[in-house]
Amino acid sequence: MKILTQSALLLTSLVYFVSGQTPPGFSALTNAPSTNRNLFVEFDNVIVTPGRLLDLDVPTTSPKASFPYHAAPKIHLVLMIDLDAPFADANRSFSPLLHWLQPSISATLWTIPDNYTDSKVPAIAPYIQAQPPIGSAPHRYVVLAFQQPQKHFSVPLGFLNYYDSSDVETRFRFSVATFIKEAGLKLVAANWFQVQNTLLA
Ligand SMILES: *[C@@H]1O[C@H](CO)[C@@H](O)[C@H](O)[C@H]1NC(C)=O
Ligand SMILES: *[C@@H]1O[C@H](CO)[C@@H](O)[C@H](O)[C@H]1NC(C)=O
Repeated sequence: MKILTQSALLLTSLVYFVSGQTPPGFSALTNAPSTNRNLFVEFDNVIVTPGRLLDLDVPTTSPKASFPYHAAPKIHLVLMIDLDAPFADANRSFSPLLHWLQPSISATLWTIPDNYTDSKVPAIAPYIQAQPPIGSAPHRYVVLAFQQPQKHFSVPLGFLNYYDSSDVETRFRFSVATFIKEAGLKLVAANWFQVQNTLLA
């Protein structure tokens, strides 16, 4: 009986863990919401299961992504952040670091291809590949997909400098919770992966 209870508990916690589509502790860390809805994410035929450790040669272009439901069409905004820049446990002073912010994905698109680009609505923050420094523990990268209420997205005032893609420092300490609140976004799906740089210094 006791054993049965323990395995039931274990099963419950496993299911809980597997169903989360953001890293454990994500909401406590960022104040941003979490979700059980999986955003399908694929890099060059490597499908991201939540938390999957990917090789350092992860593509330089944004992944393929599919939104998870087939209800009424929604305009989407997708973003990606690194929770562990620059050195994970040893120092997260640049985190969250914004890697990608693409607004206004047409409601007719259920899937966006690799290296998604829209000449009419360019990325606010063009994609930067995952590239943790040598010697750091694995970095956690979170990809979030939102329903965007506005037909034409306008960047909240406090975030205008994130337009500057040439200067990576403008992407440090991206307050995802404030951004979500000020832009009125609703989280619809998420996924996350990890990358570690195991090259020798
Ligand atoms: C964290 O790392 C950055 C970049 O190397 C450095 O500028 C900063 O001083 C470090 N902070 C701490 C608390 O070590
Ligand atoms: C990604 O898309 C941009 C814009 O269309 C293009 O210039 C670039 O060559 C593409 N990169 C790859 C690796 O396909």
